[in-house]
Amino acid sequence: MHFQLLGLAALGSLAAAAPADLVERASCTFTSAAQAAAGVQSCSNVILRNIQVPAGQTLDLTKAKKGATITFEGTTTFGYKEWTGPLIRFAGTGITVTQAPGAVIDGQGMRWWDTKGTNGGKKKPKFIYAHKLYSSTIKGLHIKNSPVQVFSVQGNEVHLNDITIDNSAGDKQGGHNTDAFDVNDSNGVYIVGANVKNQDDCLAINSGTNIHFNRGTCSGGHGISIGSVGGRSNNVVKDVFISDSTVVDSDNGIRIKTISGATGSVSGIHYGNIILKNIKKNGIVIQQDYLNGGPTGKPTTGVPITNVNVNGVTGSVAGSATPVYLLCGKGSCSNWTWKGVNISGGKKSSKCQNVPSGASC
Ligand SMILES: *[C@@H]1O[C@H](CO)[C@@H](O)[C@H](O)[C@H]1NC(C)=O
Ligand SMILES: *[C@@H]1O[C@H](CO)[C@@H](O)[C@H](O)[C@H]1NC(C)=O
Ligand SMILES: *[C@@H]1O[C@H](CO)[C@@H](O)[C@H](O)[C@H]1NC(C)=O
Repeated sequence: MHFQLLGLAALGSLAAAAPADLVERASCTFTSAAQAAAGVQSCSNVILRNIQVPAGQTLDLTKAKKGATITFEGTTTFGYKEWTGPLIRFAGTGITVTQAPGAVIDGQGMRWWDTKGTNGGKKKPKFIYAHKLYSSTIKGLHIKNSPVQVFSVQGNEVHLNDITIDNSAGDKQGGHNTDAFDVNDSNGVYIVGANVKNQDDCLAINSGTNIHFNRGTCSGGHGISIGSVGGRSNNVVKDVFISDSTVVDSDNGIRIKTISGATGSVSGIHYGNIILKNIKKNGIVIQQDYLNGGPTGKPTTGVPITNVNVNGVTGSVAGSATPVYLLCGKGSCSNWTWKGVNISGGKKSSKCQNVPSGASC
């Protein structure tokens, strides 16, 4: 059984004419956001072809059938409006989102970029909410020029494989807060083979357990981050595995930041085989004094950072940077192991505090 669905009129007449078991279509091709949102729930194999999403609307794929495959074809674009988005929403169980060769999801972010990101200026739409996603995979997508944050991930057993995010045009054109992957409230997130060029965190984990980032390349942004942790509804980060990744031309290499005065916990954090190149601020930075708008310089102890294992962080930082900056409250960083850290260039930090035994600044 194989139907190509080309419009809502076709859906209506088919539903009216066919017995109930025929309404289940094996394959559906949609060329508009409205068709996709209405039809996605009755298709196991959804094709989104050259969709131009109208201004101020979300390409809403949250009703995807259990086990469905959604494939982007051609170029997906979005009309211009100053609003908070998101431009695309995925949700579901056992779904796979992928693309045909050569396809691109183009946010044309330059229409919003004004160097202010989410801190002011134009209201900018977030790009992709992958919330309430369970045992699902998003793979091989090519995404470019996000207005602000790219992926917000929330779910269980979510795989994000071989995703390319190219916001490099924003380096010169005012892109800001273009985080690639924001993760919160999740159990089991696996981001493998990501290739990111952006102007903020490559990965930011606000909360969650069992979060993996492997074989990634991050360029132009703020590095691979845990945090900021604290002040949200979930303030626990546990069991994070970051390995075999490269961070280049970025403010930081790897970073953990917890909010000044907040409560929560960060534990079981594993870094292995991370290569740094041309890092402008800190190669490794772990700080318990963070505030958006400027860290206080005075670490607090309400979000302890425990069981941190660093096994191989190598490469170099820029001349003005510090290889390692560790700012902990009294007793609030503990049980760390620290091996194979060899970062050349830059100047040793004179501001480290309460460095746990095992680590060194
Ligand atoms: C997770 O992120 C989404 C989008 O950024 C946000 O709406 C939600 O409040 C966050 N949840 C928590 C627990 O921080
Ligand atoms: C310290 O960390 C190790 C693993 O690195 C873990 O096995 C052990 O349980 C931790 N100890 C405490 C007291 O958390
Ligand atoms: C540290 O890395 C440099 C190259 O950047 C290398 O020459 C040096 O031998 C390394 N040191 C250790 C202790 O591995």
